[in-house]
Amino acid sequence: MNYETLKIDISDNVATVTLNRPEKKNAMSPQLHRDMTAALEELRYEDSAKVLVITGAGNAFCAGMDLKEFFHELKGVQSEYDKVFRLATEWRGRTLRYYPKPTIAMVNGYCFGGAFSIVEGCDLAVASDDAQFGLSEINFRMFPGGSVSKSLANLMRPRDALLYAMTGRRFNGTKAVDMGFINMSFPAAELEARTMELAREIASKDPAALRACKDGYRFSLEMSWEASMSYTAAKEQEVMVAQKGAWLESGIGDFVKGLYKPGLESHSDRK
Ligand code: ACO
Repeated sequence: MNYETLKIDISDNVATVTLNRPEKKNAMSPQLHRDMTAALEELRYEDSAKVLVITGAGNAFCAGMDLKEFFHELKGVQSEYDKVFRLATEWRGRTLRYYPKPTIAMVNGYCFGGAFSIVEGCDLAVASDDAQFGLSEINFRMFPGGSVSKSLANLMRPRDALLYAMTGRRFNGTKAVDMGFINMSFPAAELEARTMELAREIASKDPAALRACKDGYRFSLEMSWEASMSYTAAKEQEVMVAQKGAWLESGIGDFVKGLYKPGLESHSDRK
């Protein structure tokens, strides 16, 4: 898996995708959007990657869209601008949202503008306590365009979204947790180890059940109660087929036999 703007490592069933333009604070260039599109496609079918962690090289997670290579240089080239815009929107939006494997954004530093859509597209997000989040668009006389406004509407409380969008003020990882924008923050020195702990814990669970966790939640958001009941009933059958009935046979079966307590431990941890 060789990409010009990414580094990909797989170990212990966790794939770490590192945005790798540290000299440009991992700003999303057209090539980075092409690379992410291809990498997510490749990792989708890579059996040794059960969970994805997305992070950035150096002291930035991602400084947003590459303001030079995307806006300045492509603005006059309408078809190319449109092509890259579609890729940029798609991988951070629909692709991550409905990705068949769990995804975690690990925000290790600067996270600006369009990078909010990566954080929102991932299922979970963690950051270093001192990571810097900012909607800097207003500082260059713009608003959070593309997919960013929708990401704010999906994940931030209204007062927070508009405060930060209208001021361009920054907030750190600790504050991002208070706001419910990310799950957890850690001291920078512990970020990677603690994130990998979380990723490995999730990777040890049943992959079909994990996929259903995502689908059940994400599609239910857009459904009536009746439609959701019908959808999850069908989904249950899909999981049953994918794992050949394992949840009933051994998952629940071993509890019924008194072999373990799922409230206190995971079936996958049993030796
Ligand atoms: N687009 C293109 N190049 C960028 C970007 C970006 N978003 N962010 C940083 N860079 C480049 C800088 O131009 C510089 O390049 P150079 O060395 O060729 O001059 C290099 O990355 C390093 O950046 P510095 O500014 O020198 O680093 P510093 O640590 O002082 O500041 C910071 C980092 C705060 C990220 C600053 O570069 C910045 O404000 N960047 C723009 C952030 C932004 O507004 N992003 C867009 C959000 S809106 C959207 O995504 C649609």
